[in-house]
Amino acid sequence: MTDPKRYLITSALPYANGPKHIGHLAGAYLPADIYVRYLRAQKKDVVYVCGSDEHGAAITIQAMKENTTPKEIVDKYHAMLKSNMADLGISFDIYHRTTSPLHHETAQEFFTVLNNNGDLEVKETEQYFDEEANTFLADRYIVGTCPVCANENAFGDQCERCGTSLSPDELINPKSTLSGNAPVKKTTKHWYLPLNKYEEFLRQWILEDHKADWKANVLGQCKSWLDAGLQPRAVTRDLDWGIALPEDVEGGKGKVLYVWFDAPIGYISATKQWALDKDKDWKPYWYNEDTKLVHFIGKDNIVFHAIIFPVMLKLHGNILPDNVPSNEFMNLEGDKMSTSRGWSIEMDDYINDFVKKENGGDQMVDALRYYLNAIAPETKDSEFTWKAFQDTVKGELVDVFGNFVNRAFVLMHKLCKGKVPPLHAAILDDADKNLFAEITHAKATIESLIEGYKFRDAQYGVIDLARKGNKYMQDKQPWIVAKTLDTNPEGQQIIDNCLHICLQLTANLAVYINPFLPFAAKKMTYMMKVVDKMLDWENAGKPNLLSVGYSLREPQLLFRKIDDTEVAEQVEKLKIKSEKIKMEAASPNPSGGGALKSVPVEPVTLNNNTSQNPPLEGREAKPEIAFEDFAKIELKVGTILSAEKVAKADKLLKLEVDLGFEKRIIVSGIALHFDPSDIVGKQVTVVTNLVPLKMRGIESNGMILIAEDADGKLKFVNPDETVKNGSGVS
Ligand code: 2FM
Ligand code: ZN
Repeated sequence: MTDPKRYLITSALPYANGPKHIGHLAGAYLPADIYVRYLRAQKKDVVYVCGSDEHGAAITIQAMKENTTPKEIVDKYHAMLKSNMADLGISFDIYHRTTSPLHHETAQEFFTVLNNNGDLEVKETEQYFDEEANTFLADRYIVGTCPVCANENAFGDQCERCGTSLSPDELINPKSTLSGNAPVKKTTKHWYLPLNKYEEFLRQWILEDHKADWKANVLGQCKSWLDAGLQPRAVTRDLDWGIALPEDVEGGKGKVLYVWFDAPIGYISATKQWALDKDKDWKPYWYNEDTKLVHFIGKDNIVFHAIIFPVMLKLHGNILPDNVPSNEFMNLEGDKMSTSRGWSIEMDDYINDFVKKENGGDQMVDALRYYLNAIAPETKDSEFTWKAFQDTVKGELVDVFGNFVNRAFVLMHKLCKGKVPPLHAAILDDADKNLFAEITHAKATIESLIEGYKFRDAQYGVIDLARKGNKYMQDKQPWIVAKTLDTNPEGQQIIDNCLHICLQLTANLAVYINPFLPFAAKKMTYMMKVVDKMLDWENAGKPNLLSVGYSLREPQLLFRKIDDTEVAEQVEKLKIKSEKIKMEAASPNPSGGGALKSVPVEPVTLNNNTSQNPPLEGREAKPEIAFEDFAKIELKVGTILSAEKVAKADKLLKLEVDLGFEKRIIVSGIALHFDPSDIVGKQVTVVTNLVPLKMRGIESNGMILIAEDADGKLKFVNPDETVKNGSGVS
């Protein structure tokens, strides 16, 4: 969008069901904050909203796990998330919450508009009901055996072992997590958003109108959803925690809005609350076409923000997002980041270990922001390691940026009486002129990178400028020139020019680094004795930000090194934490509480890698079985004759397998791991006596055995040499 009049920037509302980790920070919050700080420095009209997502099964399940109420859960974690974000410099204009009355009203009004306009369909369907608990069961409240990988703890919406998205009907032996009983089917009425009607509009709007400006990963996901065909989506649920349907909705009693219907409306209610607090008008931000709306989100949220919410906004008469930037995943020390497995660095822990413990806490906020942005998974997955964090902070922040600024200040105090020295134009040489030119040119480069959501490269551009400053100073060696002053009549002028240029570069570095490392930028303004206004973007690239003769303060330490012991402690802490969780999962539940307590629940779904295969460690140990039980399983070797993707199921492959005695169709959840053309002709081991099961309308007659290594890579389990199809395996 060219020249928007105002900006509304949102970051995905995190579930207030537990601490969030630094992968979340790197996904939806830090990039948005960099963008917003840049826009603010440009004096744009920008509002940055976020808040806690406080409804849905994520909350009620956590309440059961902590043996408390959903209200207590959201109060506790909302407070934690709000303060964590503030401590890490995420500068929301408002951090709201979806349990607020204003949000409830806003979401109900939204539903009413769509319902009154006839945009929703009402359908009666049969859904699982827990007779003992006397309640319908949300998909997450049903566990059973995954039809694809036989994981016995698959949820009604997804198997977290193999990543297949499921419906409760597909689970084998479904059980309610509330009572542990098998649920029964009961008729219930729900309201649906008929997404299927908007496929054409979405195809045009996303794949054509935005094909040049949306990120490839976002476009790719949208395309596969659209190619698979959209289905009507229920926007109501039979639950007691959530936003009640408006009272005048016939048959709506006892039902609530689906959390994914109400949560994005949270962006609107947060804007309303912000406007109320500031005495502003919220409407232009959601209705005027000259507003640029940008949703920063985690990868798991793409479909909701690029497909479902835009349809809701269109029907409600609001503007649509201009962009939906989303990153890939950030791994940690060789494994996927996951709070539930303890393989994560929680923001809260980082703040306690590094930010609150020491005076230089702000340095460690900037250090984390710097490293997370330097390794941002903008186009492919990336990896956080404590060692690389330590090396990057030392190699780039301490040795390059901090060192340059420090040397400029120290030498200015030593060789120029603590004042900005004059510039002697007559003796400027090529090196001087080139550095001035670099200062100016950096502006356009950094601007276009930030505006193209390439924050990683933009930050690199700033460091590169500091690197050029270091090289310039090293070449000029003003400390050596200072020793020749008796014999060199131009000596002081050479020193003046060098330090004048270095100080102007320092002032520019403060402007350029401000969106990324706001605490360092602020400290630099203190050292330069200038007001915050100097950080306005209009000052970027100017060669005369500091006045000649102006006296500056002593330098301060902008960044500090991270010790080897700190690295070792954190790596150890990570291992201990994950081991502890593993042991807890393997041992029987000591509190002997409800059925749910023994179900491993991944509480975070924003940007972590829950949707794929967990590593080998951390699986629940299964109880011993008698040999007779094992002997009941019939295993045979077969050869894959054909393989094709299953329509509308991005994880499933339909395989035809020759078992010697017959050919069978088997549906397997391996589509994300194997290319169909690569596996034709391969031998596999098949469980041949499983009860047939229908998946996406196809009857599957068996299961392929798969091995999974610690990286989550899948391999077929097959004989080391080709055997006759139909050979038994024991
Ligand atoms: O995935 C999640 O954690 C959701 N709470 C994100 C919601 S974003 C928006 F819609 F509010
Ligand atoms: Zn599975």
